[in-house]
Amino acid sequence: HLPTHVTLVDVGPRDGLQNEKQPVSTEHKATLVAMLQVAGLKEIEVTSFVSPKWVPQMADNTAVMAAIERKPGVRYSVLTPNMKGLEAALPTKPDEIVVFAAASEAFSQKNINCSIAESIERFAPVVAAAHEAGIKVRGALSCSLGCPYQGEVTPDEVERVVLLMKSIGVDHMGIADTIGVGTPKRVQAVMERALKHYPQVEVSGHFHDTYGQALTNIYACLEMGIHTFDASVSGLGGCPYAKGATGNVATEDVLFMLNGLGIETGIDIDKLVDASAFISQALGRPPVARVARALLAK
Ligand code: HMG
Ligand code: MG
Repeated sequence: HLPTHVTLVDVGPRDGLQNEKQPVSTEHKATLVAMLQVAGLKEIEVTSFVSPKWVPQMADNTAVMAAIERKPGVRYSVLTPNMKGLEAALPTKPDEIVVFAAASEAFSQKNINCSIAESIERFAPVVAAAHEAGIKVRGALSCSLGCPYQGEVTPDEVERVVLLMKSIGVDHMGIADTIGVGTPKRVQAVMERALKHYPQVEVSGHFHDTYGQALTNIYACLEMGIHTFDASVSGLGGCPYAKGATGNVATEDVLFMLNGLGIETGIDIDKLVDASAFISQALGRPPVARVARALLAK
């Protein structure tokens, strides 16, 4: 039995744009968020509070959070890798924060400049302070299906970090395929480990589509009852610390599949394609999303 309702978290403004080499104005970022909420997205990952030296595109984080026009019922999240990030984020009033760890040591070092154990130590006070402020904490676990530096990553390695995240009170576990190498059975094996420690409603999938496996992997998750997925409008993005990694699975492509399956999302595909067309035009290149390209060509 597939779920009857799926929540899509659009991570385009953050994951999608973080690696963009050309400048994207704060205004364009805020307009993208506005168009996503008009399309019916209820969860939007807006920006990240990371070092501007590491990720210059997210340097306008506070300005973007000030520029968005919040719609009731929509949840706005931001990435916070440490206390400095959280302290900068709190005044901008995010509804949720995201702490991000990796299932591989090598990726942890490249992405956040510390070991897995050190990252958990850094996150612990972040989680506590967020909870104190009444803010939910999502965890993202990079390289859960493979690592660009280490290669294979086992379900045991993933489960170990899932447990560490749980031990510090992280509320939600997002299993991320950073480089898009996962395939359905392997994804299910990893998801099973997350589901041992988190309820179904607090487990999500975050699939980059580098090898074209993301939709199939989402379907494999649906078969397990998982009903929350990150996706990126237009298929924007890639991680700056995973060379060659492409964007997340496109929100339009996931939505088209869910619509075909009769699964509710509350998202309007035409309005979503408007958002996709808007950001594509701003970036001066066509959407990666197959569905956006097909519908825009009509
Ligand atoms: P660090 O250099 O180890 O930190 O960076 P530090 O504490 O030693 O500080 C060094 C400098 O950074 C200092 O500035 C700090 O103030 C500053 P300086 O004195 O040299 O001028 N700094 C900060 N500035 C702004 N905001 C902060 C912050 N923290 C320190 N929060 C750090 C550690 C994590 C900050 C750094 O490595 C970093 O920013 N990395 C970027 C990580 C990132 O954004 N990666 C992409 C997002 S994760 C992702 O895409 C994966 C995901 O999508 C899931 C998936 O697909 O796998 C979620
Ligand atoms: Mg990502």
